[in-house]
This record gives sequence, C-alpha cells and structure tokens, in this order.
Amino acid sequence: MRKKIVAGNWKMNNDLQQTEALLDDLIANTPETIAKIVVAPSFVSLTTAVAKTHGTNIIVAAQNMHQAESGAYTGEVSVNMLKSAKVNTVILGHSERRAYFGETNALLAKKVDTSLAHGLTVIFCFGEELADRQSGNHFNVVESQLREGLFHIAQSGWDSVVLAYEPVWAIGTGETASPEQAQEMHAFIRNLISEAVSPAVAEETSILYGGSVKPDNAAEIFGKPDVDGGLIGGAALKAADFLAIVNGIQ
Ligand code: PGA
Repeated sequence: MRKKIVAGNWKMNNDLQQTEALLDDLIANTPETIAKIVVAPSFVSLTTAVAKTHGTNIIVAAQNMHQAESGAYTGEVSVNMLKSAKVNTVILGHSERRAYFGETNALLAKKVDTSLAHGLTVIFCFGEELADRQSGNHFNVVESQLREGLFHIAQSGWDSVVLAYEPVWAIGTGETASPEQAQEMHAFIRNLISEAVSPAVAEETSILYGGSVKPDNAAEIFGKPDVDGGLIGGAALKAADFLAIVNGIQ
C-alpha cells in the first residue's frame, strides 16, 4: 500500500525560536492519523527540529541539498551534512528553486542521484506554469520534468521517491487546482510511471498535490484516488491549519 503523506514546506519562514514553538504545538496536538507527517524547516533549525521530534511521528526534511558530496561551494549544504544531522528526507526541485535559483531538470537529476546514493528519501517537486496550462502544454511539461529529472534512476531507487505535483500557478496564490484537475494530472503521472518504470512501481509511489491546500479544500483533494497527500506551504505555518489538513487524509 502506498503511503499517505502530508508535508509542510516552511520555506524561508520561522527562525529557531519560532520553529521550536511551532513544533511544540504540532507535537502536542497531532491527531491519530494514517498519514506520515513531514516538516521542512530551514537548514539552521534542522538539528533542533530533529531533537524535538525524536520519538514522535513527525519526520524532518530539508528543503534543498547540493549535488556534490563536499567541496568549495560556499553557502551550500551537502548530503552528508544532512545525514549527520539525522535528516533523511530532502525536498528537491521545488518551483521556487527552479525559478529563482536556476535549478534545471539536468541539475535535479544529479541531486536526485546524490540523495538516493546516500539513502535519503527524495520529495521530488515539479509542475507546470500558468502559460503551460493555458496553452494546453501542461502534460508535456510535467512529462519532461519527470523524464529529464527522475526517470533515469534504477528501479530500486523508487522506494525512496515521493512525487509532489505542484502547478506553479497554484503555489501561494490562493488559487488551487480543482480536485478534478489534480486527479487528472496524478493519473497521467501514474500512467507515465507505469509505462516508463513498471505498473508495480506506479502503484506504490506516493504522489502528493501542492498548491494552496487549505483546511477547507484538503479532504476533497486528498479524496481523489491518485492523490496520496499534500505538500503544504502557507497553511503549514500554523499548527491548527496544518493539522486540520492532516485530518483531511482518510
Ligand atoms: P502553498 O505552497 O501551499 O503556500 O501554495 C505550496 C508549496 O510551495 O509547496
């Protein structure tokens, strides 16, 4: 059975004290759930977050990682640094990384390889821009992002991959894809995996939806058969909202 996952991407929000406060709130109020709960604070707060969530069912992820093992890359964070901090999950390819930091499919392929080689779980993000959807090119864009950034991995690597479909036009805009639009794309993605990798891998791979998921739309989106949870931005910054979204997983 593929996993249900609700992941909070805190982006460049929450300093160390705010991270501790939000985690305290999440830990105190986590509901009984079948969902795996993931939070991705900033690099600065990762060790504190790992310590605080020890013994809970909250998993701490990083928001990014460099593709090289080590070296002269000022300001960057390596896979071994994450592992030494007991962070075993990393978000790669978020649209903000692609748009503001020039991350290409080819670069992401390298980051994926480094992550998987070191046993990390990758939450691989992708999704079309508004112009792509308006021109009807959204399926092609998503297919290229997956084929060029991810589909080269060995079949065994898929055990450590979670997909996050995030249409760029829905991120932080308050405009969400309709549950039908999400389902249509998720079914397309699962079918691609089935053809490019195998039907079994397609069946087992969790595909999250991201883009303006809120407490009042989560259950309907998560209720679609090919939507296995969500990657949450803005609404992950308030414990009550994030946990209400977790409750949208049935
Ligand atoms: P949002 O962000 O929920 O604020 O739209 C989602 C994301 O960027 O992962």
